[in-house]
Amino acid sequence: RRDAEESEFEAIIAADKKIEPRDAMPEAYRKTLIRQMAQHAHSEIIGMQPEGNWISRAPSLSRKAILLAKVQDEAGHGLYLYAAAETLGVDRDELYEQLLNGRQKYSSIFNYPTLTWADVGAIGWLVDGAAIVNQVPLCRCSYGPYARAMIRVCKEESFHQRQGFQSLYVLARGTAAQREMAQDAVNRWWYPSLAMFGPPDADSTHSQQSMEWKIKRYSNDELRQRFVDMTVQQAGVLGLELPDPELRWNAERGHYDYTQPDYDELMRVVKGDGPCNRQRMANRTAAVRDGEWVRKAAAAYARKQQEVAA
Ligand code: ACO
Repeated sequence: RRDAEESEFEAIIAADKKIEPRDAMPEAYRKTLIRQMAQHAHSEIIGMQPEGNWISRAPSLSRKAILLAKVQDEAGHGLYLYAAAETLGVDRDELYEQLLNGRQKYSSIFNYPTLTWADVGAIGWLVDGAAIVNQVPLCRCSYGPYARAMIRVCKEESFHQRQGFQSLYVLARGTAAQREMAQDAVNRWWYPSLAMFGPPDADSTHSQQSMEWKIKRYSNDELRQRFVDMTVQQAGVLGLELPDPELRWNAERGHYDYTQPDYDELMRVVKGDGPCNRQRMANRTAAVRDGEWVRKAAAAYARKQQEVAA
């Protein structure tokens, strides 16, 4: 029976069809998906903090409305992804618990501070731009609920990226101080955005297996290169510099050459020692604790409604 289930799984993967929650799947496939999807969901939720920092200080009512909507979208993505992860048989509370006790991670990028208003634009342009490059191929991921969740998430990320670009475009054409602020934000977010794609292929623990299972469609380095190629063109339109003197077109490779991010720094940040890790986790822990009475009240209300219906 086990052999039959395994070959059925292999056949679905080979035919490029979707694995659905009730299909048999190897335990390691399920575990990898829970790890990646939970990490992705946690990233969306923690990712609300750096930009949330600017909601009360946005420079106009319309910028404030846009930013509020964007941060709400991120909450939505997180909840959507937790729901998708639950189809693998884990409970959302278990995932929250594993984030809080440090057994599950969230993206390194959200451990950097948002020092000026231009950081909101740089996050939209670079961080959401990198997220799209990473996530569009996940729409073709072999696990059905993850792939389907990614379609809507990517549409919204694409809007987020454009708003970031547009905000920086305005700053880059503003006063000298505004232009300088935009350039400074790009200088600080460029390398952390490159690092978001994960360690180089040679050091990536999961890439090979995840690519065989068609969870990942491209390696970390392939996606990083795609992001660089796309972003150089956009920087030209913005009129801002990317902070890499080695950045140049390589006609032989058909790609831009670029300086790699500091992967030791990435690993330090992933392990909890980035500029804002402690603050992000403290805020999250407080939010879970402060919201406990709301969850309890909602559950008690749902129970009462069931009793009334019974
Ligand atoms: N931040 C935190 N941890 C990371 C990062 C990162 N940027 N990159 C890699 N890691 C971790 C991996 O989780 C893995 O940890 P583990 O071995 O303890 O389980 C380890 O570093 C080695 O990396 P890989 O083997 O390359 O891991 P993987 O195959 O999972 O690839 C990647 C990493 C590309 C981030 C993948 O998990 C992915 O595509 N995730 C979905 C997208 C996502 O989570 N985006 C997050 C935020 S984007 C946004 O919200 C705007």
